Amino acid sequence: MFGSLSSAPWNKRPRSEQRPNWLLPSELTRGRNPRGHAEFRRACIAPPSPHCPSQIFLYPSRKSHVPLPVTIECERVEKTFGDHPVLRSVSFHATFEHTIAFIGPSGGGKSTLLRIIAGLEHPDAGTIRLNGRPLLYEEKTLRAHRRKVGVVFQAYNLFPHLTALQNVLLPLEKVHRFPDAHQRAAAVFERLRLTAHTGKKPAQLSGGQRQRVAIARALAIDPDFLLLDEPTSALDPEMTAEVLEVIADLRETGQPVVLVTHEMGFARETADQVAFVAEGFVQECTEAHEFFNRPRTEAARKFLARVLKY
Ligand SMILES: Nc1ncnc2c1ncn2[C@@H]1O[C@H](COP(=O)(O)OP(=O)(O)O)[C@@H](O)[C@H]1O
Ligand SMILES: [Mg+2]
Repeated sequence: MFGSLSSAPWNKRPRSEQRPNWLLPSELTRGRNPRGHAEFRRACIAPPSPHCPSQIFLYPSRKSHVPLPVTIECERVEKTFGDHPVLRSVSFHATFEHTIAFIGPSGGGKSTLLRIIAGLEHPDAGTIRLNGRPLLYEEKTLRAHRRKVGVVFQAYNLFPHLTALQNVLLPLEKVHRFPDAHQRAAAVFERLRLTAHTGKKPAQLSGGQRQRVAIARALAIDPDFLLLDEPTSALDPEMTAEVLEVIADLRETGQPVVLVTHEMGFARETADQVAFVAEGFVQECTEAHEFFNRPRTEAARKFLARVLKY
């Protein structure tokens, strides 16, 4: 979320150092960050400040143009559905700057793990820490947590009777009660190059556009983590590329992403870290190039040999 005025850099830094944090309104019309600031697009959704009547301030936040590592730590997380143990004892520590990819065979527990991280599912045992903070699985904490993560599933989950814009606005206004909901929605539509489609209902959009709207909705809340569960698995190759491009572009903004994917080429190119999930365990969690070049476990070697064969 936006930083408070008391933590604003003009209170902390000499005047000469303030300049790089500001953009002139004319610069906002150029479509891309004119000075290499990852936070350029965020300026569009910054509320006006009495301190900067003629300029738009880029609020300081963790997502600065100097990426900071984010951390996910799982200790002995377990989950059983009925008598079927899905996560047996998941432990891993991941530190990454932008993207961690969960990959592994179907049924291995990736989606369950993602839903537990999203606070949508309770683990039976174990602990999860996000950026060092333990996630407590009690309703009040979970409600607050869910407001800080954006989740996109394979099926778009858009309301069919609402336009793209209304789909994005609805949670911003009714759940998060952002006073600047319209500016946020406009900014995120522009950022994902969807402005031309705001008035269309999901049935009038292509699969790729629908999934981009779902990503826009998740991003509009400015989430601490964007969690994507196989966002391209229902799409044809061209639409897959369109959505993967959007995800890759998020690196520029410093948005942390947790991605469940079967797109090995994309994970290899874009992820910093890979967690290999199989048979209810995270069997390896390592840097992406390390995982793809030198998988440590037999299970990972077999999996990669199978999926990279064709
Ligand atoms: N809500 C649920 N109720 C019962 N079984 C479930 C539920 N969610 C997942 N499972 C089962 O857990 C196993 C792992 O599922 P999942 O986490 O979706 O794996 P993956 O995403 O790796 O394919 C599967 O066998 C699935 O059928
Ligand atoms: Mg899954």
